Amino acid sequence: MYVTHLSLADFRSWPFAELAFEPGVTTLTGRNGQGKTNLVEAVEYLGTLGSHRVASEAPLIRHGAPRAIVRARVQAGLDDARALTLEVEIRSGQANRASLNRGPLKRARDLLGALRVVVFSPEDLRLVKGDPADRRRFIDDLVTQRWPRLAGVRADYDRVLRQRSMLLKSLTGRRTLDEASEATLEVWDESLAKLGGELVEARLRTLEAMAPFVTDAYLAIAPTNNAATVAYRSSSLGADPNAATFLPTKGTLADEISCARVPFIGKSADELAEVLRARMADRRREEIARGVTLVGPHRDDLVLSLGELPAKGYASHGESWSFALALRLGAYGLLRADGVEPVLILDDVFAELDDVRRARLAAMIADAEQVLITAAVASDVPSSLAGRRYVVADGAVTRDDSSGTPAPGGGTEDPSPAPDRREDGPR
Ligand SMILES: Nc1ncnc2c1ncn2[C@@H]1O[C@H](COP(=O)(O)OP(=O)(O)OP(=O)(O)O)[C@@H](O)[C@H]1O
Ligand SMILES: [Mg+2]
Repeated sequence: MYVTHLSLADFRSWPFAELAFEPGVTTLTGRNGQGKTNLVEAVEYLGTLGSHRVASEAPLIRHGAPRAIVRARVQAGLDDARALTLEVEIRSGQANRASLNRGPLKRARDLLGALRVVVFSPEDLRLVKGDPADRRRFIDDLVTQRWPRLAGVRADYDRVLRQRSMLLKSLTGRRTLDEASEATLEVWDESLAKLGGELVEARLRTLEAMAPFVTDAYLAIAPTNNAATVAYRSSSLGADPNAATFLPTKGTLADEISCARVPFIGKSADELAEVLRARMADRRREEIARGVTLVGPHRDDLVLSLGELPAKGYASHGESWSFALALRLGAYGLLRADGVEPVLILDDVFAELDDVRRARLAAMIADAEQVLITAAVASDVPSSLAGRRYVVADGAVTRDDSSGTPAPGGGTEDPSPAPDRREDGPR
């Protein structure tokens, strides 16, 4: 699939922008702070309803504006002319509105699945060096792209977790529970186990399918004898004892023992829910004493290893970079294998890679249906990724053609301008 047209109103630094894209590689270059990332972030937002740069949505709305609008037209494939128009209105302090083919959707998240994107950016170093929450978000975003229904499961899980944890906090330190609290806790336990089981099952299925793509991608970028592997570490379910890469990095001794005993890969969502229920019962006393929910996918992690060693804390800077890239390429490979070509966005990554890895990455993505690249320095992008090149400067996007002459400017009202026209931008 590929984006053929992007329209923005009051998104980030862009009061207004209209851009036409074609399949293949498109490179946006320009000095720092000119709004290159803002443009590709808009595409990312339509695909994931999130951004690799911020957790909240306020920064996505142009400073001083009440709302931002992002709209894109997407074609299903090079040999599939079906097209979709996706639109989201990001509203400050209110629920966002979304539409598909101009028809309003009940909830913005119903848009998920319509446009598939994979973004790789310098922020991804966090996947290797950062907290478990960064890796959970990575796998959950992938799960949601594969099965949009899981977006609802995720949202419900987060809500139940918040409510259950609030109840636990209010009970902190109690030795016995009254009937009403006991009954309420049981309701939350049941919901948490059911939703948690679904989420973990989807994560594991995704991880299992993605793992070979990650290993292959790492090998292609940084040939080495140390295989890059990804395993799932669960503080509540136990780990697959056959997974050679399983390394319990945290947790109590009791956790480690039960982790070693309970294999869970291949279990159904119901079976996983059953394990979660049992673990919650085991740890209820501790949960009440501490006032926190200790069991569930919100405490799990992905363990990334290079050979025998965990990547976190051991891998060099360059190895960590290659691993982060391999994770994104793994996600890309998996989505492709699912049968839909995602749009690949490489935001500012070539500056971070040496020549050898640049060339290897370029070779790996040469046949991608659409790649959107941003770079401050045009020469950082390998020439093999010729594609169409644009310069983003002073709130305008102009064609950087071989003659070096910018394409003529144009108005901003035409809904489908040619890609080489001058675009309106921040004023
Ligand atoms: N909500 C917003 N309202 C107005 N301006 C914003 C908003 N968010 C970001 N900006 C501005 O956008 C600019 C950054 O744009 P962007 O990150 O796209 O730059 P870039 O061209 O990718 O730069 P670099 O080469 O450094 O990555 C900054 O000047 C920032 O102040
Ligand atoms: Mg940028």
